[in-house]
Amino acid sequence: MGHSDPNVETALQPFWMPFSANKEFKHEPRMVVRAEGLYFYTEAGDKLIDASSGLFCVAAGHCRPEITEAVAKQLQTLDFTAPFLRAQPKSFELAARIAQHTPEGLNRVFFTNSGSESVDSAMKIALMYHRVRGEPQRQLFISRERAYHGVNMGGVALAGMVNNRRAFGVGLPGVYHMRHTGLPENRFVKGQPEHGAELADDLERFCQLLGGENIAAVFVEPAAGSYGCLPPPKGYLDRLRRICDAHGILLVFDEVITGWGRMGAPFAAQAFGVSPDLMTMAKALTNGAQPMGAVVAKQGIYDAITNAGPERGVEFFHGYTYSAHPAACAAGLAMMDIFEKDRLFERAAELSPYFIDAVHGLRDVGCVSDIRSVGLMAAVELAPDKAPGARGHEVQKRLFDTGLHLKSTGDSLIIAPPFIAERKHVDEIVEKVRAVISAI
Ligand SMILES: Cc1ncc(COP(=O)(O)O)c(C=O)c1O
Repeated sequence: MGHSDPNVETALQPFWMPFSANKEFKHEPRMVVRAEGLYFYTEAGDKLIDASSGLFCVAAGHCRPEITEAVAKQLQTLDFTAPFLRAQPKSFELAARIAQHTPEGLNRVFFTNSGSESVDSAMKIALMYHRVRGEPQRQLFISRERAYHGVNMGGVALAGMVNNRRAFGVGLPGVYHMRHTGLPENRFVKGQPEHGAELADDLERFCQLLGGENIAAVFVEPAAGSYGCLPPPKGYLDRLRRICDAHGILLVFDEVITGWGRMGAPFAAQAFGVSPDLMTMAKALTNGAQPMGAVVAKQGIYDAITNAGPERGVEFFHGYTYSAHPAACAAGLAMMDIFEKDRLFERAAELSPYFIDAVHGLRDVGCVSDIRSVGLMAAVELAPDKAPGARGHEVQKRLFDTGLHLKSTGDSLIIAPPFIAERKHVDEIVEKVRAVISAI
C-alpha cells in the first residue's frame, strides 16, 4: 500500500489526523472516496465492506437518499439560525421524535454536536441539578476503568483507558474509577456474562469512602464500546441503579455507541431493563451524515433546573453555536423515519444471534485470545505481539488491503456492522477476518 511519491506525502501533511498514526498514514494512505450501503470504495475502485458502521454511526447504511435530500433541502431553506434566544421548528420536532424512543420519563433533549460534548454537557447538568436542589456539595463523579467518554476535558477525566489520559493530566479532579468488568472467567462468553455483578459494589465502597452525599453522578457505558465490547455482567446495571438510588446519585448511561439500536432495542437502557437519569447519544442519531449529539434528561431534572432559574432569564448557562443545527436536525428527522420504516431496531435484534455465533466461530483461530459480543457489536481480541496494540494495528491495515474496514483498539478488532446487514454480509466479514488473522 505504501507509495513512493513524495509529492503525495507532502500534500497530505497539513491535515493533522485525529486518533491516527499520522506519519505512517501519510506515507501509505488508506483512503476511501465513496460509499453506498454496506460498502466503501477507494479511488482505485476497490470495494471494502464496512464492518464497523464507519465508527458505529452508519446504522442504516451509507448515503441514504432520504437523509441527503432532507439535508440539501434544509440548507436551501434555512441554513443556520442562532440557537440561543432563537430557534427553528425542526429542533422541537426532533426532540419530540427522540423522546418517543427513550425510556419512560426521559424526555427532555439537550442538543450537542458530538458524543464528547454530550458527556461534558451531562456532567454540567448533573452538577447544576444538585446545586439548584440545595446539594452543591455533590461535586464528585464515578466512572470505570476501560471507559471511553470522549475527549473533552470532562470526558478525559472520566476515561478509563490510559492512552487517552496520561498526556493530559487528570482533567477534572474528583473522579474515581470502579473496576472494569472484563473478568478472565468471562472470556469467550456470548452476550452478557454470568460473573461480575458484584463489581457494581465498588460504587458502594466509594460511597462509604467519600460520602455518597458528595457524589453527583455515575457515568457508565452500559456495554463498553470503544475499549472493545465489554457487555455488562447480568445484574450489574441493576445493582448500580439500586446503589445510586440509595445515595441520591444520578446514573448516567453513555449511549453514544449503544444507543439507537445496536443492542437490539432503541437504547441499551431498554435492552438491559435498567433506566438511567441522564443518557448521552450521538453517532447513529443522524446515521453519521451530520455531526450531532444529545443529552436526554428525566423531566424532573429539566424541571428542577428550569424552575430554579429567573422568570425571564437564562436558566442553564451552557450550549453550543451549532446546538440543534438545522441540517443536523433535518438529518436526524430523516433518520427517525428510517428507523421506523426499515424496522432497524428489530432488524438488529433479529440478526444478533446469527452475528454472535458467526463471530464466535473465530474462536479457534490461533492468535485469538478472547471474543466478547452483545447485540450487533463484538470484539475479537488477539494475543499481543511485540508491543501491546501492534498486532491489532497491523491486522486492521491488512484487512483494509483485503477489502474490509473495521475499528481496532489495541489488539481488539471491533465488529459492529450496519443494521441493514444481511447474513451474507456477516459471513463476508467473518471470512475476511478469518483469512487475515489465520495468516498471522
Ligand atoms: C461511549 C462514548 N462516549 C463518547 C464518545 C465520543 O463521541 P465523539 O467522538 O462523537 O465526540 C464515544 C465515541 O466513540 C463513545 O463511544
